[in-house]
Amino acid sequence: MGQTLAQRTVDKLGLNMSAAELQENVTASAKTDTVLIDVHVLDESPVRARDIANTLSDEFVAMVRELETPDSGARPDSRVVVEQRASIPGDPVVPKTLRNIAVGLALGIVFGIGLAVFRDLMDNTVKDSGTLEEITGTGVVGSIPLDKERRRQPAIAFDADNSGIAEAFRKLRTNLQFLSVDNPPRVIVVTSSMPSEGKSTTAINIALALAEAEHNVVLVDGDLRRPTAHKYLDLVGAVGFSTVLSGAATLDEALQKTRFAGLTVLTSGAVPPNPSELLGSQSARKLLHELRGRFDYVIVDSAPLLAVTDAAILAAGADGVLLMARFGHTRREQLIHAVGSLESVGAPLLGAVFTLMPTRGSLSYSYDYSYYGLPEPKRSSRGKTPVSDRSDPAKINATSDVDRSGASYDKRKSAE
Ligand SMILES: Nc1ncnc2c1ncn2[C@@H]1O[C@H](COP(=O)(O)OP(=O)(O)O)[C@@H](O)[C@H]1O
Ligand SMILES: [Mg+2]
Repeated sequence: MGQTLAQRTVDKLGLNMSAAELQENVTASAKTDTVLIDVHVLDESPVRARDIANTLSDEFVAMVRELETPDSGARPDSRVVVEQRASIPGDPVVPKTLRNIAVGLALGIVFGIGLAVFRDLMDNTVKDSGTLEEITGTGVVGSIPLDKERRRQPAIAFDADNSGIAEAFRKLRTNLQFLSVDNPPRVIVVTSSMPSEGKSTTAINIALALAEAEHNVVLVDGDLRRPTAHKYLDLVGAVGFSTVLSGAATLDEALQKTRFAGLTVLTSGAVPPNPSELLGSQSARKLLHELRGRFDYVIVDSAPLLAVTDAAILAAGADGVLLMARFGHTRREQLIHAVGSLESVGAPLLGAVFTLMPTRGSLSYSYDYSYYGLPEPKRSSRGKTPVSDRSDPAKINATSDVDRSGASYDKRKSAE
């Protein structure tokens, strides 16, 4: 389109743009095999687009008439007419919403899949018992499901609870009783590599599960930096482990009975300035020794292994350690470090435990089989006895637990 025509159109409509700008948004094309000229106008206002198209055509007609009329004033040799006037378009031509949505969607899907694959490749969290056993070099002795109720009330009321999580702790209890049968561990440190992996919640419920089986259990809050046992069990936190170690209270004064039969608690006491030193002291060893004499089980909650040496120090003086790994959160290298720090003090690792394991719907028993690396037995087969061909004693024990559903090994159950 010519500059003159554009300028005439701009003038006629009083448009707020230059002729050059208008030219950019107008295309005129000759329709093949006809004498028709198609005019396309692009404008953000559909009404103005129509007006421009129409004015442009009118001005073109006028221009041609002016140019073709001979000076004599005779009729022009050729003329142009407007064959069809422009109308207001129903839909905008740009943006092409539908097409853009489709392209966006396709790109989104491709990007999403890419991201998922990438995350999967980058994900080195521990999510299966095989990996957990491989890294820790010990058996998986428990698998504690995620249970939202535990956020509100960490302690499970075992006398009235047969939910999946209560069963998981009973199973863990049974497995514990199988570990080194000749010399069963009684002073057990519960730890993990990082904070918030369920140590404290799990420690409390291991203690409660043991108490349910009529054992006399003491829970010691050995996390002198971020103690939680008193909060989780609604106890007084001021007098406890550190208080006894400093000599400000006797053990008898510091031990607290709980609302649960068979469970006594030694909270952390005031946070001391030198937890590691305190935990490594002779007094601490003597204290644990005294507790061992008074109770069937001493369950010691602790600080995370990768943060401070506290847990490793405690573990060195205990019969063994249960290492928690939060399902899908704890990373391989964190576990490797944790195991390393336990090895460096010569602390015996009793077993690994998955915590906060997401469950699909209700807790199904089937996963217990795959979880111990065993084929799931057919429902129809009598006397479900999956046979393990692996020689690891911990795993065979675990298998026996599954076989006999654990109950017969508890004092209370067998006494009945
Ligand atoms: N089995 C579980 N199901 C649901 N939430 C849990 C479970 N175990 C722990 N939690 C929650 O996870 C958080 C960290 O637990 P906690 O036992 O304090 O971990 P840690 O002692 O390792 O820091 C808490 O909010 C706790 O309520
Ligand atoms: Mg804790």
